[in-house]
Amino acid sequence: MAEFTDVDPVASEAPIAKHLLPISAHADEGGHLVIGGVRVEDLAQEFGTPLFIYDEDHLRARCQEAVAAFGYHASFATKAFLTKAMARLAFEEGMSLDVSTGGELEVVLAAGVPAERIVVHGNNKSESEITRAIEVGVGRLIVDSFDEIERLRTVGDFGSVRLSIRVTPGIEAHTHEFIMTGQEDSKFGFSLSSGDADRAIEAIRSIRGVTLDGAHAHIGSQILDFDSFRKEIELLAPFLARHQLTEFVVGGGLGVAYLNSESAPSLSSWAKAIREECALAAIPDDVAIGIEPGRAIVATAGVTCYRIGTIKEIPGVRTYVSVDGGMSDNPRPVLYRSGYEVFLPRNMTAPRSRAVRVVGKHCESGDIIVTDGRLPHDVKVGDLAVTPVTGAYGYSMASNYNRVTRPPVIFVSGGEAKIVARRETIEDLLRLEP
Ligand SMILES: Cc1ncc(COP(=O)(O)O)c(C=O)c1O
Repeated sequence: MAEFTDVDPVASEAPIAKHLLPISAHADEGGHLVIGGVRVEDLAQEFGTPLFIYDEDHLRARCQEAVAAFGYHASFATKAFLTKAMARLAFEEGMSLDVSTGGELEVVLAAGVPAERIVVHGNNKSESEITRAIEVGVGRLIVDSFDEIERLRTVGDFGSVRLSIRVTPGIEAHTHEFIMTGQEDSKFGFSLSSGDADRAIEAIRSIRGVTLDGAHAHIGSQILDFDSFRKEIELLAPFLARHQLTEFVVGGGLGVAYLNSESAPSLSSWAKAIREECALAAIPDDVAIGIEPGRAIVATAGVTCYRIGTIKEIPGVRTYVSVDGGMSDNPRPVLYRSGYEVFLPRNMTAPRSRAVRVVGKHCESGDIIVTDGRLPHDVKVGDLAVTPVTGAYGYSMASNYNRVTRPPVIFVSGGEAKIVARRETIEDLLRLEP
């Protein structure tokens, strides 16, 4: 097995760092990338490109880590990546599942996940979404607004469905403003400091037949330090006591490393910090603590494999490397200016001496996948290129912009690859139109 870890990850020409790759990833004797026991070049040959490749063992390991700390109070945030196979996998490993729309609910139900293990979010749930959730008997519904409380008044029988309240703690987590959700100026939840959260509790408890016993907060996404989570727990503790709430979900939001130079805390260390802070804040032991990670479960498990179609060198300016996907399979660089690495799976140990910008095939200058990437000097048209850490908010945010068809998703493990979502076809694109 060729070595690719004994490099200074911050050196600009360094090969891709191991911590950005799925756990089973390694270079074979020839320096070719292998994931789940299969060469990525063989996967591209069989399934075509672009291609989302997930290491199934990595997905399972992350779910197990979350469950080891919080049991079924660890919910997988399906918005990060949802297919029926993923929903089943998270459930098999002991997680509950969080959905935020009727569509996500139906996919998770279609996967065979028992309704009582589903938690329903949403800042604008429709009457039919609420009715369906209650009809199928989801485990928990997170109440988000005063208008939703009025909609809940028309529900006759809540059955076994329990309610939690979404609280906005008033925290500005250190992350991109579009994925910051805990601050006062937010479309989500009830403000703690204004007293809205207390008033909402009273209003919800005035509805006949409801069991409101939980609080939920989510302060943002891609958060790499624990200070904001600690602050959240400190702020919520008196609220839990005041209203005798017995379940508290601190949300998702744990970040991951995207670049060689970045590092991120593990799920276990996050769990430890949460437990410590709950104890410091004197939250009683009989309050069940939960988390709702999405990105930290799936991001590093997945990579995207593209084929390079054109290389345009503009002397003194830059080199554009165009691949056969783009902002339709990874909108994060456009939405949040997110950084990514890129490398060639045919030689992952080679120094990446050539500065490049990796762009997609969309009819748009902003269609950038890697703004400041590096590839080996001998990169050429026809090569495969891999962007790691694309397992979260890639496939789930994928679009058909420019009528580009969405790539397939495969899970690999033990030398076997299986399709969990096939490639879209032109027939799929035309299906909605008479
Ligand atoms: C309510 C809620 N829970 C969990 C998550 C998952 O966040 P992450 O993928 O950052 O863990 C989100 C993401 O926006 C969310 O809004």
